[in-house]
Parts: sequence; structure tokens; C-alpha cells
Amino acid sequence: MNATAQSKPRLTVVAHPLVEDCLARLRDIETATAEFRRAARLLTQLLLFEATRDLPLASTSVVTPLEAATVNRIRRPIVLVPVLRSGLAMLDTATDMFPDARVGFVGLERDERTAIPRGYYRKLPTPIDQAAVMILEPMLATGGSALASLEIAKADGARDLRLICAVAAPEGVRAVHERMPDCAIYIATLDRGLNDRKYIMPGLGDFGDRYFGTEPL
Ligand code: URA
Repeated sequence: MNATAQSKPRLTVVAHPLVEDCLARLRDIETATAEFRRAARLLTQLLLFEATRDLPLASTSVVTPLEAATVNRIRRPIVLVPVLRSGLAMLDTATDMFPDARVGFVGLERDERTAIPRGYYRKLPTPIDQAAVMILEPMLATGGSALASLEIAKADGARDLRLICAVAAPEGVRAVHERMPDCAIYIATLDRGLNDRKYIMPGLGDFGDRYFGTEPL
């Protein structure tokens, strides 16, 4: 089977009471780092659960302690690409779920004045043309860093591209859809829009700072 994402919906807002509860905790300014991390990890799990629902399976057999059994294993290789730094927050959960996944990295830094991402590191596994490539980017704001990562993966041969985000702004979704129409986006919420500093409103603030505890005390 071809490794493409074309038959999937272009935008999936994952609906589940646990998703709502995680979002409530992540948005709340009163949520401390430990609880923010817990909610972010659970939300990542719920997003990835939905984003991988269509993965093809291959039938095989194992021997249980009692007899031989026919079982299904995920057939398509998985490549996880956290966008540094905040995407790292989603990586442990993702590798727990997909222990055989290969991991690539894209390092992008947002210029706080222009909001344009600057690339400082990239290392993707090869080949990736047969893999489901999951770009892990918690906040889809302008779409700049997500697009830069998607374009890097596409240039390296990726054909099944999936973008996994907690919170998205319509501007970011539009930008990705315009330039990467075959990328499937999975989000927990589509927020109102960006403010003049390109933060998502109402959003949850700076995801990386809140997850890694680097907010000024
Ligand atoms: N990155 C964040 O962490 N938060 C936003 O609102 C936008 C980009």
C-alpha cells in the first residue's frame, strides 16, 4: 500500500471528555509545572491515538504460553519528529506508544520580533518514504515552524505527513493547508486567532516555558 495521507481528513479536532479536561488544565494560569506536564502527556496520547487510527496492520503469528495465535502488528514504520524545543514535550509519550519508532529532530527558533522561524538543527532518519511521519508541534500559531518542518520531511522523501498539535490558530491551519494540502492535522482545539505578538488566543501561553519550567519566577 502507498504511504500517503491523502485519504485522511485534512483537519481533525479530537473530541473526547479527557481532551477537554486536559485542555482546561493546560490553559489555566494556576496550573503548576508538574500538573501541566501530566496533562500535556495525556493529551499527546489522546491526539496520537486518533492520528494513528488508520495505520495499516499486518497479520502474523506468535506463540502464547498456551498455543499459537494470529495477531496484528502495525505495518507502517513510524517516524516521530519533535520540533525543538516544545515538541520534545510530546516525545516520551510518543515513543512509549510506538516503541519501534525512529526519531528525527528539527531545531527551529522563533524570532520573538518577527515570529519567523530560524532553523539551527536538522537530523531525520532515512529512508522515510514508507513511514508515517508525525511532526510533533504543541502550538500551531502562524504555522511557520510546522511548515518548515513539514517541508524538510517532504524534501527528504516523506509522503505520509501528519501534524500533531495541542492548540491551533486558524491562521496556522490555513497556512499549512495552503502549502501542504496532503498533510493531515490533528489538534485538540481550534482557538480564536493570534494576538499582535503571534500568541494563540485564548491559548495557554508559551507551551515550552510552561512545560519546561522556564517562565520567569
Ligand atoms: N507558541 C506557544 O508556545 N504559544 C503560542 O501561543 C504560540 C506559539
